[in-house]
Amino acid sequence: MEVIEQVSVIRERTQALRCNGKRIGFVPTMGALHEGHLQLLRASAQENDITVCSIFVNPTQFNNPDDYKLYPRTMEEDIAQLKTVGCDILFAPQAVDVYVQQPLMQFSFGALETVMEGEHRPGHFNGVATIVGKLFHFVQPHKAYFGQKDLQQVAIVKQLVQTLSFDLELVRYPTIREADGLAMSSRNTRLDAAQRQTATALYKALQLAKSQLGQKPLYSIKATVEAYLTDKDQVKLEYFEIADPDTLQPLAVVEAGQEVALCIAAFVGPVRLIDNILVNLN
Ligand code: PAJ
Repeated sequence: MEVIEQVSVIRERTQALRCNGKRIGFVPTMGALHEGHLQLLRASAQENDITVCSIFVNPTQFNNPDDYKLYPRTMEEDIAQLKTVGCDILFAPQAVDVYVQQPLMQFSFGALETVMEGEHRPGHFNGVATIVGKLFHFVQPHKAYFGQKDLQQVAIVKQLVQTLSFDLELVRYPTIREADGLAMSSRNTRLDAAQRQTATALYKALQLAKSQLGQKPLYSIKATVEAYLTDKDQVKLEYFEIADPDTLQPLAVVEAGQEVALCIAAFVGPVRLIDNILVNLN
């Protein structure tokens, strides 16, 4: 596996690969790789000639300085893992090379960024769109892989691709979970043993809500989830929403045949976690 740090080098390398008719799959990450990331990479390796992974803890998408500072950085382990999943190129740039100037340009995603993550993490999606746009320019992928775990991020990237006419295909890959249901996340390593145990409450809350969908009114389901989590030590619910899976707008009612997204964000101790499931109503 080739490791490239410089923006100018990855540009040349992927440009040359494209000219040689190679199909490039791309998995952008912030590192601290886990099985969720590795599955995206395996899918890319299977479906493309060349797989590029980027590892860059992007400062502009962190609205909380502590979260940025404490974000796990495990480059050596990451490189070892990447070699096992058929990754051809790791792009791991320095912030000064990526952000030659502090970006002033602002994105606006309309209603998509006024809810859930957009509402609770001001500036977050602006930072995500900025870095993802830059990375798409550097890597020039044919196909880019994102996880359903960050459902709203997928919707934002989809809008970015459409608005700026990036010539690539987006893949939304299902969420990979631990055996007890906890969605895999780089931030899980920051949980202590008790918090790690408690963190399963997020997925359990989603399952509880799912079991009541179509049977109880949505306000009552929300109240049940809130009550369930209020009981849990060290858990602070930020939001639980029943939303349209594409627009992410909260729904007031659901109908048979509809697909809905159940989305949750909560602090477990000091760590903010998110999760979601998609449910098809019969
Ligand atoms: P990061 O959190 O490292 O995630 C990289 C990719 O892996 C994202 O598309 C994310 O949705 C996916 N992913 C994370 N956990 C997953 C899981 N349990 N199952 C399936 N996929 C999972 O998301 C980011 O980085 C950044 O915002 C980034 C897009 C790289 C821009 O900086």
